[in-house]
Amino acid sequence: MTRAVVAGCGSYLPSKIMTNDDLSRMVDTNDTWIRERTGITQRHIAAKGELTSDLAAAAAREALAQAGVSAAEVDTLIVATTTPDDTFPSTAVTVQAKIGATDATAFDLQAVCSGFVYAMKQADALIRSGQAKRVLVIGAETMSRVLDWTDRRTCILFGDGAGAVLLVAEEGTERGILATHTQSDGTLRDILKTTGGTSSTQTAGVVEMNGQEVFRHAVKLMASSGLKALEQAGLTTDDISWLVPHQANARILTSCANKLKLPEEKLVMTVDRHANTSSASIPLALADAVHHNRFSQEDIIVMPALGAGLTWGTCIIRW
Ligand code: UT7
Repeated sequence: MTRAVVAGCGSYLPSKIMTNDDLSRMVDTNDTWIRERTGITQRHIAAKGELTSDLAAAAAREALAQAGVSAAEVDTLIVATTTPDDTFPSTAVTVQAKIGATDATAFDLQAVCSGFVYAMKQADALIRSGQAKRVLVIGAETMSRVLDWTDRRTCILFGDGAGAVLLVAEEGTERGILATHTQSDGTLRDILKTTGGTSSTQTAGVVEMNGQEVFRHAVKLMASSGLKALEQAGLTTDDISWLVPHQANARILTSCANKLKLPEEKLVMTVDRHANTSSASIPLALADAVHHNRFSQEDIIVMPALGAGLTWGTCIIRW
């Protein structure tokens, strides 16, 4: 059987850091409220002129270097993003040009905060079916560009960044992607959305959210999706080595870990330093854990996500 194995993992965070205290000088909020309700202490913000494709290219280069694979050897390049550089062409083709992935088929995938999990599912399907051998999956966002910086209910939650993994086809291995579960429900589209877009208003719009509704769905659906993916893989919660969820809010992550009966030591948490970077949050958290040597070969890593749409899903990897 052919499996999609992670050969390298990279990340990029813009150098500018915005703390909760910085935010409290912009809107009516404070460090205590933000820490207690979200676990966030700071977020990275892209510099003027620094684009989603710049963040993505930097993360991609690091993933390729770690894998010892050249950009020219990549056959498929997927960028999961909800903050593309332009309406078209895709951010993925811009990244392709920036890193020199001359032989790749490049495309964007839009599933907001579930984008990375959705992209991993596509990459896995391409590799298992023999249609791809080296797939670069990137989650990259400049969420700061779609925030209403006068709305304290949303502007405190998000940050910018990118993470990338290189998946390679391997035969006869037990490692790699074991299962992916995804689902969506468009009837819930209005609880988390932007106020505009290309066809509707000809502007990108800004984030608008019913926080409590999203919170409720996030805890329930990330946990149930995790269980469905475990079942698909023939595993149980006892087999989980690490939970690396979409980093939305520390309270959502701990509730999700509790529902899966996991001790907090098994939860990889970066939301405190990165805030919610949408489709970039899981690969950023993966890269952070790799950087700190937390994973061992054969570890079972469970990555649930939920985002606007609503979209949700889980990817499980044997590391
Ligand atoms: O990636 C997936 C997308 N997003 C999410 O997963 C986010 C899901 N939702 C959440 O994380 C939480 O709902 C929030 C963090 C957004 C809000 O936390 P909450 O505990 O649900 O607070 P709330 O909306 O019920 O607001 C409580 C109070 C309100 O004041 P009153 O009406 O009780 O007087 C808000 O006006 O807190 C107020 N508030 C704030 N106060 C200080 C709201 N935002 C702030 C703020 N600073 N930034």
